[in-house]
Amino acid sequence: MVREHRKYVVPEIITGDDARIYAGRYASNFHSNTVLLATDESIFRQKWMREILQGLDEAGTEYVVFSDIEENPRDYNVMAGADVYLSEECTGILAIGGGSVLDCAKGIGIVAANGGTILDYVGVDQVRNPMPPLICVPTTAGSAADVSQYAVIRNADKKAKNIIISKSLVPDVSLLDTVPLMTQPKDVTVNSGIDALTHAIEAYVSNGASHLSDMMALESITLSAGFFPFSVDRADDPDSRFQSLMASMYAGIAFSNAGLGLIHAMSHAIGGLYDLPHGVASSIVMRSAIQYNYSSSKRKYQKIAYLLGVSPDITDDKRVITGMFEQIMEMRGNTDNPLSLSAYGASKADIPDLVARSAVDPCIATNPRIPCRRDLSNLFERLF
Ligand SMILES: [Fe+2]
Repeated sequence: MVREHRKYVVPEIITGDDARIYAGRYASNFHSNTVLLATDESIFRQKWMREILQGLDEAGTEYVVFSDIEENPRDYNVMAGADVYLSEECTGILAIGGGSVLDCAKGIGIVAANGGTILDYVGVDQVRNPMPPLICVPTTAGSAADVSQYAVIRNADKKAKNIIISKSLVPDVSLLDTVPLMTQPKDVTVNSGIDALTHAIEAYVSNGASHLSDMMALESITLSAGFFPFSVDRADDPDSRFQSLMASMYAGIAFSNAGLGLIHAMSHAIGGLYDLPHGVASSIVMRSAIQYNYSSSKRKYQKIAYLLGVSPDITDDKRVITGMFEQIMEMRGNTDNPLSLSAYGASKADIPDLVARSAVDPCIATNPRIPCRRDLSNLFERLF
């Protein structure tokens, strides 16, 4: 049997309580005399930020705060951050936040090292020069941008989410600390947890999957099934938060190396056009996308279903799919986010545009079943 060559990229990862305090030491190790501290205003005001700033101080590292970062970060957020990075002569980036902050920080690093505009680097392997040292402290358990080679930047003029994939985007170090997650609002916890679960499911059934990515994806699904509901209901329980963070990390390593699929291709199209939170967009498309893919990867979907709590006695395909989706909805709990596109001002007249966007999304290439445009149109039709 011929085994294809595979490469795996993973950053250095530190896990555990108060892991964030190492930010200063790593900045010093990377000879970053001045770091751009990419974050958002509410995060910068958190009490736990003090230890990070103190660590930078003790390491003799200066910092310049850049917090002008919107949810679904815009190309102009990246360019503004790159201007600050270059004008302040920074020599490294410390990104502290959720997926939007981390993705924006990656974009800033790309532009700082390569020039031009961030939209010049959209696609796969378009980044020529390595980024400056990047230290990440994620404050959500979902995007896993702190371990992945992906960044998603919104083209504000075209209202489109653009995907950048490059080994250069793998951060140098990810500091996985539960403390920053403890003050997260419930809807952020839910949407992040759904994102992590989606990463693991898509990586597991991806046509780029391998032994290592499968191992990570399955562990992630197991942890999400066991701890995601608790992290929603018991926000201040550190163990649930930690296990959810591990689920996100495993899923991130899995998808970074195996690729994503139809759920992300469709949710990027929706998220770009209507500016929806990523986890909400993924929740909207999940059922249709899984139904479409199921026959192409039946054994793997059954395994996912059983890990999520569907009885192994259930083998009928329709019941497996329904059971899997019910388990996911139960994990999601009661949130205010409806799962119909109509609820977000979408119109069926937008379907051709949504189809065109998702058909060229890089995530479609690793979906186990490649949809034609008519398939995509039918899939979007079901979301209203
Ligand atoms: Fe995602």
